[in-house]
Amino acid sequence: MNNGTKHKNFLFKNHNIKAYSTNTPQLLIQLYDMKTLVLSTSEHDIEHAATLLQQGNLVAFPTETVYGLGADIFCEDAVNAIYRVKGRPSDNPLIVHIAHIEDIYNIAINISDQTKILMETCFPGPLTVVLTRHPSLGDSFSKGLSTIAVRMPSHPAALSLIKKTGHPIAAPSANISGKPSPTTAQHVLEDLDGKISAVIDGGNCAVGIESTVIDMTHENPMIVRPGHITAEEISTLLHQEVAYVSPLDHSLPIISPGMKYRHYAPHATIDIIDADELHNRYIDESVILSNILVNRGVHTELFPLTTQTLFAAFRLADMRGYTQIVIVLDEKSKAQEGLMNRIRKATA
Ligand code: TXA
Ligand code: MG
Repeated sequence: MNNGTKHKNFLFKNHNIKAYSTNTPQLLIQLYDMKTLVLSTSEHDIEHAATLLQQGNLVAFPTETVYGLGADIFCEDAVNAIYRVKGRPSDNPLIVHIAHIEDIYNIAINISDQTKILMETCFPGPLTVVLTRHPSLGDSFSKGLSTIAVRMPSHPAALSLIKKTGHPIAAPSANISGKPSPTTAQHVLEDLDGKISAVIDGGNCAVGIESTVIDMTHENPMIVRPGHITAEEISTLLHQEVAYVSPLDHSLPIISPGMKYRHYAPHATIDIIDADELHNRYIDESVILSNILVNRGVHTELFPLTTQTLFAAFRLADMRGYTQIVIVLDEKSKAQEGLMNRIRKATA
């Protein structure tokens, strides 16, 4: 038995709405040529954003990982609009964001003790758990899968927005599909200005790459997307082996639909140089990501190589018309599985 029995009225905070009906208000989901409001993280603005969500509109918001494009999970039209606005493949399910750990029992079942330990330790934070979907929940964001991906973000504006909306929020990264995930409100506007109702500007995202996604529906936990929280950390916490399913390993079945899509891809070509091979190589006409000194010309833009700078550098390269991005890999960077995964995906 899971704690879900405690919540059998399915009352989410603030709202006495029967949870599993897809209650879509009569609303204006105008998709194009709308004015996209830029809101602050003030209480007043977040309240306004929550009202927009409750009315079936799309609002982008900051999280500690990347900006998300949110829809109230009970507004089916809004959830569908996410796919149209992003150009997202229709079989790629969305992560559901909650603001209280207990809310998980309204959307998932068969929650193991291991999952509870993970949630108690890592929620709120940059971790998404894949669980068995609650049978009475509609599958508009799960795309027919029997599972559901759930995350509790730690960014105060995200938590406040979910609480004020009173329902969980379905949210992919707030970029056009195939583009790098946005780590500032400006990045969101570059892709979605005029197509969504609002974006809450919460500054730069602290982590900079998307959450670690871990499938907890099997005997052994499986990481289907690496991130800031690592397999080793989870393995130590759970005293259990944690498998890592590489998207490049074609011998394994696709466990997470997002694994098969090209992501995070800039137009510029990416040239990866091992720090040991750098010697005194001269680099010009490039965006460079490097933590060590580089012999470079004046037509370059230099960023440190970190999860916080990667996507911003990709976007800047395309915006300024650079045709080459040079990434200098040092030992410390090579050890970061989330960072290396995003670099590999961008070059795949
Ligand atoms: O950090 C993040 O996770 C950000 C912020 C906004 O929370 N969100 C995010 O969402 O990156 P998105 O949609 O860009 O990536 C979600 C990934 C996709 O690869 C998707 O296939 C996978 O999670 N996913 C979603 N539901 C799943 C499920 N039921 N089973 C397996 N994978 C799932
Ligand atoms: Mg994404």
